[in-house]
Amino acid sequence: MKNMSVELCGVKLKSPLIAASGTFGFGREYDEFYNISAWGAISVKGLTDEPRVGNPPPRIAETASGILNSVGLQNPGVDAFIRDELPRLVATGVTVIANVAGSTVESYTEAARKLSDSPVAMIELNISCPNVRQGGAQFGASPEEAARVTSAVRGVCSRPLMVKLSPNVTDITAIARAVQDAGADAVSLINTVAGMAIDARARRPALANITGGLSGPAIKPVALRMVWQTAKCLRIPVAGMGGVMTGTDAAEFMIAGATAVMAGTANITDVMAGPRILRELEEFLDENGIEDVNELTGSLILN
Ligand code: SIN
Repeated sequence: MKNMSVELCGVKLKSPLIAASGTFGFGREYDEFYNISAWGAISVKGLTDEPRVGNPPPRIAETASGILNSVGLQNPGVDAFIRDELPRLVATGVTVIANVAGSTVESYTEAARKLSDSPVAMIELNISCPNVRQGGAQFGASPEEAARVTSAVRGVCSRPLMVKLSPNVTDITAIARAVQDAGADAVSLINTVAGMAIDARARRPALANITGGLSGPAIKPVALRMVWQTAKCLRIPVAGMGGVMTGTDAAEFMIAGATAVMAGTANITDVMAGPRILRELEEFLDENGIEDVNELTGSLILN
């Protein structure tokens, strides 16, 4: 029997495959099709201390090999999540990661403090949403701001803390080191790549917010490069994501240095993506005579 389990900052996951935040809601829609505890973990839609209605429509546009979104962190707020969604998720047996966003340091700490007292296994601090005017990627764009919010949340958060990084920066390794030094237990990367789509006939932007975040296969090479660069300069583990559509894609992220891998856009184009990618990753291990999925992490051969 091969081993598929990994440990991500002290949390044991039954496989390295995590549903990426924002593409899986709170699991309700997918639960109708398969047992969502098939995932190593689920990172739920970004939660803010207060409910948010998000950006006006249209807020999704299809592009070649990717999706552009500008959802604007629509969510029911942390209190409603803990009351209405978390008990059902926990009952499925799946490991729950709470993705937390905010517009001020105080709003991040308030949300994280409430979630620390709940049965979530880990907090993923979202300092990389490109679609909100206040907060989000503003915190993820400079090492100083990233460290400031990470350190404040660390101070109130008893759960393992993973910080989700933006690719829309000059040097992602500087931000990664800053959050590590500020107390992060792991980093996840990459969030979406800032982009834009235009309806040429109408001469209008395809998204009401004009710009959005690009995800899907188009961004995989960017994500792999950033995961590789980041993993080799950190002491803490990396969860890699960006265009993971197949088990081989997941293996590539682990080979680049990731301990765990998140799949996002794949859930939107294939409702069964979770169990399928996991099966394909197992087949990849079988085909390559690998007994333990952890053997993949950081196994890139450079000479
Ligand atoms: C959004 O809600 O706009 C996307 C969330 C994110 O990119 O973090």
